[in-house]
Amino acid sequence: MSRVLVTRRLPRAVIERLEAEHDVDVHRGDAQMPVDEFHSRLAPCDGVVVLMPDRIDQSAIDAAPKLKVAANVAVGYDNMDVAYARNRGVICTNTPDVLSDAVADFTWALILDVTRRLSEGDRLIRAGKWIGWTFEFMIGAGLQGKQLGIVGGGRIGKAVAARAGAFGMTVAVSSRRDPGWPDAEFMPFDKLLSTSDVVSLQVPLTADTRHLISKPALMKMKRTAFLVNTTRGPVVDEEALVWALNEHLLAGAALDVYEREPDVHRGLLALENVVLSPHLGSAAMETRTAMADLAVANVLAVLAGKPAITPI
Ligand code: GLV
Repeated sequence: MSRVLVTRRLPRAVIERLEAEHDVDVHRGDAQMPVDEFHSRLAPCDGVVVLMPDRIDQSAIDAAPKLKVAANVAVGYDNMDVAYARNRGVICTNTPDVLSDAVADFTWALILDVTRRLSEGDRLIRAGKWIGWTFEFMIGAGLQGKQLGIVGGGRIGKAVAARAGAFGMTVAVSSRRDPGWPDAEFMPFDKLLSTSDVVSLQVPLTADTRHLISKPALMKMKRTAFLVNTTRGPVVDEEALVWALNEHLLAGAALDVYEREPDVHRGLLALENVVLSPHLGSAAMETRTAMADLAVANVLAVLAGKPAITPI
């Protein structure tokens, strides 16, 4: 029997699958464990199931000499030092595929919300400011015949692209290599920025993509275009985005992720043409359950001496 730490609450049935084979220590709350406590509970463990805000960095890996597997309950793994883990013989896993549809659906919810001013209208009604239907009241932007530019050629981007036809949008994609998606035009990043009506970010957060969207990138966008971010907050320089929105260099933004979650730049809070959601991209019950199941299956496989199912 090995010992496994679970860094936050997960569905009971998922924990029971782990408990059937291993000695499991579950951090009961939803709040982050203080780092000292995290490291001391990790110290005797062979495996860890990691919820996103918790960090498997060098100090966590050094604190756990027996650790064999760290299973992230997320597809993005910027919270893990995968190279350091590999050198120390720790296998890191993530949860690809199982959340692509949920995140793509949510990306479209944000696209529709920001272009048709849904959340803004909701706020207006709740503030008692609706005075009735008029011809030009809260006019938004239509999508038919417009271009959706997807930054990133991965699974989630592909799922976002697959939904574009339903809204009559053409798709452009920029990534390191042409992903060869049906009906998508592969184009350089700068051209995608300057020609797209909606720019949706679907790249993972890496040293190369941190602040990919900064002042120069925002200045290339059409003044009528919208920016959507459902990947990781630091891909966008929030200070630059607030500046660009205040300068009317773009028409609006819809954000699910932020540079310093759960803090949100005050400048964004003040803008009506910004839709803000609290990192809900994969937050559908079926999806979250599938993510937890896959993370646990990875831990069980590695601790049974088998290959990980979805190694990073
Ligand atoms: C969620 O943000 C994920 O990376 O799975």
